[in-house]
Amino acid sequence: MDFTKEMEAARRMVEARLEQFFPGGGLEEAMRYSLLAGGKRVRPILTMKFCEAAGGTMEEALDFGCAVEMLHTYSLIHDDLPCMDNDDLRRGKPTNHKVYGECVATLAGDALQAAAFQTVLSAGGTWRHGGQLYRAQAAEILAEAAGFRGMCGGQYLDTVGDGQLHTESELTAINDKKTGALLRAACMMGVCASLGRREAAESCMGAAEGYAASLGLAFQIRDDMLDVAGSAAEFGKPIGSDEANHKTTYVTLLGLEKCGELVLDYTEKAKAALRSGGWAGSTAFLEQLADSMAVRTF
Ligand code: IPE
Ligand code: IPE
Ligand code: MG
Ligand code: MG
Ligand code: MG
Repeated sequence: MDFTKEMEAARRMVEARLEQFFPGGGLEEAMRYSLLAGGKRVRPILTMKFCEAAGGTMEEALDFGCAVEMLHTYSLIHDDLPCMDNDDLRRGKPTNHKVYGECVATLAGDALQAAAFQTVLSAGGTWRHGGQLYRAQAAEILAEAAGFRGMCGGQYLDTVGDGQLHTESELTAINDKKTGALLRAACMMGVCASLGRREAAESCMGAAEGYAASLGLAFQIRDDMLDVAGSAAEFGKPIGSDEANHKTTYVTLLGLEKCGELVLDYTEKAKAALRSGGWAGSTAFLEQLADSMAVRTF
């Protein structure tokens, strides 16, 4: 199967599963609004493809992937709030607080975070043994990535740093937390999902982490480039949000051209890290995914 078709098939699998959560009205409606608003679904796709590469199946990792997507969606709802980036457009639609108000948007984010952990801890799977152990391990990986040492910690540094200049190394540390952490969790939880079926080579977890760390840095630099030079219609987010919030980004530090080179460098690093794992299956898709993210326009 070619890459585009494989990506589309994985995305459809994620969409179909996500649609089964939160069918009700009220708060559930607000949660569903952002969760089903589209989005690339990169994180759950990574979870499923890492599980496959480590010797499991995509199906086995689907609920872990959906959990990461719930947590990611919560982070986006809160990131858009007036107290943070104050943005009106997300995934091509009005942001959650624009539709439901700040109070409901805050609660929808909170509830999506709780639902993410519930989804991990009750994940279906075809584990023959050790299901509880692997679910607990995945929950721990996700908690680490979501919390003060991960995404929230990065958002804190990014937000309290508004208006202040950051050096390149400070910015790398911020991006590694705010964006890299959740991508690392997505990839590592995929390896974790494969463990009930087969002892994945020990090198797989490290390789997944290394791949995601570099992919995360490339991903955020590309995001910052699109915030300046992208099209809102395609990107699905406002252009110029970072400038309006006086953010230091790689673009403000280095300019667009150097950023483009850096994205390609980090992408090569990601692929090299991937090759250090003793994979049971093919990693060709994961290499192509990194390449495609480096030139994305949305
Ligand atoms: C946006 O993430 C937030 C960043 C970490 C830059 P994505 O670019 O994955 O957003 P969606 O999920 O496709 O909407
Ligand atoms: C924040 O980065 C990433 C999150 C942890 C949500 P941005 O603020 O650049 O993300 P976008 O551009 O709004 O998606
Ligand atoms: Mg932000
Ligand atoms: Mg933002
Ligand atoms: Mg951005």
